[in-house]
Amino acid sequence: MVITEKNKFNMKTKLLYLENSYQKEASAKIVAINTETPQVEIILDKTIFYPQGGGQPADTGTISTKTGIFIVSHVSYNDGSILHKGKLEGSMNVGDEVSLKIDWETRYHNMMLHTAGHILDQVIKNVDNKNYGVDGDHGIGKRTFVAFKLPVNESLIEKIENEANSIINKNLKITAEMVSEKEIKERKIKLQFELPKNKDLRILGIGSYSPMPDGGTHLKTTGECSKISITGIQEKKGQWRVNYSIEKPNKETNEKVKERKSDSIDNDLSINELKQKIADIKSQINSDLNENLTKEKLRIKYLAKKGLFNNLAKNISQIEVSKKKEAGQILNELKTEITQNIEKSAPTSNNSQKKWIDLTAPGIKPKTGHMHPVSQAMEEITQIFERIGFSRSRYPEVDWDWYVFESLNMPKNHPARDEWETFFIDAPINPKMGKIVLTTHTSNGQVREMERLGGKPPIRMINIARCYRRQQDTTHTQMFHQFEGLVIDKGINIQHLKGTLDYFAEQFYGPGTKSRIRPFHFQFTEPSLEVDFSCHICHGTGFLDEKTDKVKKVNCEAREAGLGHGEAREGALGHAPEDRRQKCKFCKSGWHEVGGAGMVHPNVLKAGGFNPDIYTGFAFGWGVERTYTLKEGLNIDDIRLLYSGDLKFLEQF
Ligand code: PHE
Repeated sequence: MVITEKNKFNMKTKLLYLENSYQKEASAKIVAINTETPQVEIILDKTIFYPQGGGQPADTGTISTKTGIFIVSHVSYNDGSILHKGKLEGSMNVGDEVSLKIDWETRYHNMMLHTAGHILDQVIKNVDNKNYGVDGDHGIGKRTFVAFKLPVNESLIEKIENEANSIINKNLKITAEMVSEKEIKERKIKLQFELPKNKDLRILGIGSYSPMPDGGTHLKTTGECSKISITGIQEKKGQWRVNYSIEKPNKETNEKVKERKSDSIDNDLSINELKQKIADIKSQINSDLNENLTKEKLRIKYLAKKGLFNNLAKNISQIEVSKKKEAGQILNELKTEITQNIEKSAPTSNNSQKKWIDLTAPGIKPKTGHMHPVSQAMEEITQIFERIGFSRSRYPEVDWDWYVFESLNMPKNHPARDEWETFFIDAPINPKMGKIVLTTHTSNGQVREMERLGGKPPIRMINIARCYRRQQDTTHTQMFHQFEGLVIDKGINIQHLKGTLDYFAEQFYGPGTKSRIRPFHFQFTEPSLEVDFSCHICHGTGFLDEKTDKVKKVNCEAREAGLGHGEAREGALGHAPEDRRQKCKFCKSGWHEVGGAGMVHPNVLKAGGFNPDIYTGFAFGWGVERTYTLKEGLNIDDIRLLYSGDLKFLEQF
């Protein structure tokens, strides 16, 4: 249908904003559209767009379909139908289902200003017992105002502001309802000013103040409104206009609004509503009594400061004056009844109902994980060496042949290399560095550490890393860990090495553990040594304690008798005592072999950029797993268990 000057008054639009001022979006149907006029006009069957009027500006926003979008720039009221004016992009037709969306921020601000105006009406009309006469005229715009029939004195501004803001702080309920003239009479609603009498009226109530006619959008409670300030009073068109503004909402004011809302009290309670609430509380307490709630719990729920009774009782201020006395009475009765009920309720702690909790019983320990035993060992080894000035370093576990072999005085094809069952990486060979290998030992860190220090000692390195060798049995895994010690400085000799070994033996295995060095061969050390630690079970004797003690005793007695070594044994026991002694099964010989060591070979020092004529050094390198499993009390006879991933095994450490 085409909209004409005549017919636009005949189409009735349902005014959704009157029912719910907070509706931001809706769907509707196009009843009429006019694309002839400079601005496109649309009439819908229902709308959330507020039309200009009653002092509140029109809403802006969008009306959209799949085929077009209509930007609403103005909305007007034409005796029942609402005309949306704006710009259309795309196309729209009569009968189209459309989606409506209003610019909510603008609308909400207008709602606040509008409500603020009504609050000011309430305050000003009786600010000093002189009726200033609410004119009913409001305006929101450059100068937002409410109008009065009589001049309001400027000296009253502060008082008005204070009272208005205290209404905001009270967070009173705001209601709107449609009433007929008859109802107005019957309910003895006193309107603040007269309006045409022949049709239904929408009236706005703030708390228990007398209502006033209103067709605008408004807040649900006064507490939502920002602080009001009066900016001036002026005479215009025979009215007295009180100009006002509201504080721009910001983080702080929003917080305040939230606070007001949270401790909001039930405003505007009628005596009947109060009676209903009292009945609710009574039935609740009855069911709580059946549940055998303890006295303490009942007291907290009903009579505590923030209990149900006080929550209800604080609403008494909202009850109509004439009913206040009655309200007081029924509230008192309720309190007596609650108190009596609590008195006759179950004893303070109801043992028969409750399960005992033994507060002294030990708690249930939550399961906690721990580091893998090998990680624990590495941690311990690091700490032991750090205490004597070593520092931990890390070097690659996939490295060049140069660092793993060649720089360690093992030229290509040297037979010594065969001792390390090496895994090679299938990668291009570097002319200087050679192949890439999985490191077979941590000795690759030696030249790397020397390079890192650029020929400047001292070096006191402890390098712990993963190593790989092509072998696997009870004492070997293909992947394992080594720790490598390297010390280089002027005047370092083999005694320093022995001292370090003894120190480690005592620290790691316990007091009394000794180290032993035996000649050996490595290409990268000269001299080279093999290192053993004394067995903690037989203390380096190779035989179990009881027997060795006996043997010692026999030998002592023999010495005293002046007999020779063999004679004494023969003589005292009648046969060779070794035969009867029980061998230590753990070590078989009194010592455990742990790894290699030696004085750094001059060629290696040279490869690392150190002058072998000035500097000397020692190095050692052992398997972490092997060193660890020899610890007293562990006796792990299969190293592979460590990497089995079996929690039953690992949880023991
Ligand atoms: N790298 C040698 C090995 O794996 C041990 C070692 C380290 C020997 C340092 C001497 C010096 O067996």
